[in-house]
Amino acid sequence: RSIIAIVPAAGIGSRMGADKPKQYLMLGQQSILAHTLDTLFAHPEIEQVIVALHPQDHYFSQLPQSQHPKLIQVVGGGERADSVLAALDYVYSHHPDAWALVHDAARPCVTLTDISRLIESVDIYPQGAILAAPVRDTMKRSDASGHIVNTVDRTLLWHALTPQFFPASILRRHLSAALAAQAPITDEASAMEWAGVMPGLVSGRVDNIKVTHPDDLQLAVLFMSQQ
Ligand code: C5P
Repeated sequence: RSIIAIVPAAGIGSRMGADKPKQYLMLGQQSILAHTLDTLFAHPEIEQVIVALHPQDHYFSQLPQSQHPKLIQVVGGGERADSVLAALDYVYSHHPDAWALVHDAARPCVTLTDISRLIESVDIYPQGAILAAPVRDTMKRSDASGHIVNTVDRTLLWHALTPQFFPASILRRHLSAALAAQAPITDEASAMEWAGVMPGLVSGRVDNIKVTHPDDLQLAVLFMSQQ
C-alpha cells in the first residue's frame, strides 16, 4: 500500500490574532508547520507529503523542509476542504491507488506511534479511519439563548482529530460530490459519512491538539517536550 500524507496549510489562522498565519508561529526552535512536516517525513511508511499552501504564501519557501525530497507543494483553496481536494487532485493524477493520510498543519504534537496505529487499523476498517478521542466532560445541548436544554449521552461521542486515513481516489470522489452539494464538511470523515461510508474511530492521544488560540502555543511546547 502506497501512503501519501496531505497537509492542509493554506489557512490564515484568524482566531490566533497573530501577525502571520498560525502554522508559521514558532514552537521552540521551529515553526508549527516545520514540526508537523518533520514528524510526517520521519514516518517510514509515508512516501510523499503534499502541502497545500495559500496562493500568496511567502513563508513556506523559507523553511528548510521546503527542500525535502518527499515534499510536494500545491496551491490550496478557500476552505480547508478545498485545500485537501487540491492535494487529492495531485494524488489522483500521480498515484491513483494510494491511500491519503490527511493531517492538519496546526497539529504538531501528533506522534509516530499514533500515525502507525491509524495506518494499521485498515485491517479492521478497510474503508478508512480517523484518530479520535472519547469525550471526557458532561455534554450539554443549549438553546439559542444559552440555556441548557438537556444533557447528551457522552458514551458514544468522540472528538475527531487528524490524521484521517482513506483511499485517495474514493475520498476525492466523495469530497468533491459533498462540496458540490454544499454539505457541511469539516473533516475528511464527514465527506465519507455523507456518501454513506462509516469510517472507523481509532483512539488517539488527547495531546494531539489543534493549535487554535494563543494559549495553545505553550500547551503544544509542553506536550512536545514530554513525548
Ligand atoms: O482554521 P483551522 O484550524 O480549522 O484549520 C485547520 C487546518 O486547515 C489548518 O492547518 C489550516 O492551515 C488548513 N486550512 C487550509 N485551507 C483553508 C483553511 C484552512 O489548508 N482555506
